[in-house]
Amino acid sequence: MIKQIGLFGFGCVAQGFYEGLLQNPQFGVSIKKICVKSDSKKRNAPQALFTTSDLDILEDPEIDVIIELIDDAAAALHIARYSLKNNIPVISANKKMIAENLAELVVLQQQYETPMLYEGAVAGSIPILQNLAQFFSHQKISLVRGILNGSTNYMLTKMKNQHISFAQALKEAQGLGFAETDPTLDVKGLDATYKSIILAFHAFGEIVSVNDVEIVGIDKLTSALLLQGRRTGKKIKLITEISKSTGILKITVKPELIGEQDSLYAIDYEYNAIEVSGNLSGTQTYVGKGAGSLPTGSAILNDLYLLLNNFQYSHQKQSALKKTA
Ligand SMILES: NC(=O)c1ccc[n+]([C@@H]2O[C@H](COP(=O)([O-])OP(=O)(O)OC[C@H]3O[C@@H](n4cnc5c(N)ncnc54)[C@H](OP(=O)(O)O)[C@@H]3O)[C@@H](O)[C@H]2O)c1
Repeated sequence: MIKQIGLFGFGCVAQGFYEGLLQNPQFGVSIKKICVKSDSKKRNAPQALFTTSDLDILEDPEIDVIIELIDDAAAALHIARYSLKNNIPVISANKKMIAENLAELVVLQQQYETPMLYEGAVAGSIPILQNLAQFFSHQKISLVRGILNGSTNYMLTKMKNQHISFAQALKEAQGLGFAETDPTLDVKGLDATYKSIILAFHAFGEIVSVNDVEIVGIDKLTSALLLQGRRTGKKIKLITEISKSTGILKITVKPELIGEQDSLYAIDYEYNAIEVSGNLSGTQTYVGKGAGSLPTGSAILNDLYLLLNNFQYSHQKQSALKKTA
């Protein structure tokens, strides 16, 4: 029975989650401690909740779920490992940490029979991992395609609509909390790559590394592409494509010119969209806010709701692949 939360971080996403939890007292769960980095910041929550010592959470036997929302991938991995090894369910939104350590995290979940959920790590508010785990678990997927990075989509939209510079658009995205703490992860396409690795695992059961992905960031936008976009009325979008044909998984993340007939054309600002093509359902497109405090906080809140209802990722596709290998 989950009753008390140990929360790591109280930045953009954690504050969105905190607000969502306050709006849902029926969950019957409260935050026991919040571990942050600095003890001098003013916080929008009771001061008594805060600590700067991770042990105040990790060694508290009354804490029965850990929610990790920090921007430090190494520390986040330590927290996730500790939680799973001590049979404490864990929720995370740290796509870099998850994508780079998927194999270990899956083994730990199985070995310690303890769930880890991370919907907030992929496409903010869109419940794509839950849908892949449930609705698509019994379908063969051929393609997952989408816009997975809210800050670069915001930048590209602003650059097109208001003719502002790359640097100015980045500054605005950072000011609104859409950009990662290190914005090079966004503009170099790495943030979308981490998300694509997580999606590839949940859609196709395969674990790949960053080196297996063909990546071109929006920092490599050529003036020729920008000019072509202006001339043709097409939009430049950072498109992620994960496909599998003749047994080969292929992932690309790159800026592409897309026209009005493309279902991703209308996806502007911080919105994300993901198309999933299943052999029974055909293609479905999910659209929602891909970044920001409350939207990402809503995904964390839903992960908590799922844990309260004993949900866990089944890793069914991975097992199926192993059996047929
Ligand atoms: N922002 C988004 O829209 C978004 C969307 C999806 C996923 N994410 C992911 O969500 C996570 C959090 O992102 P964010 O935007 O909320 O970051 P953020 O606003 O920069 O906040 C980071 C928080 O982590 C705390 N922190 C950093 N290192 C710590 C450590 N070692 N121990 C304890 N606390 C530590 C910071 O403490 P102080 O407050 O003391 O500095 C701060 O409260 C990241 O993994 C990010 O990739 C973000």
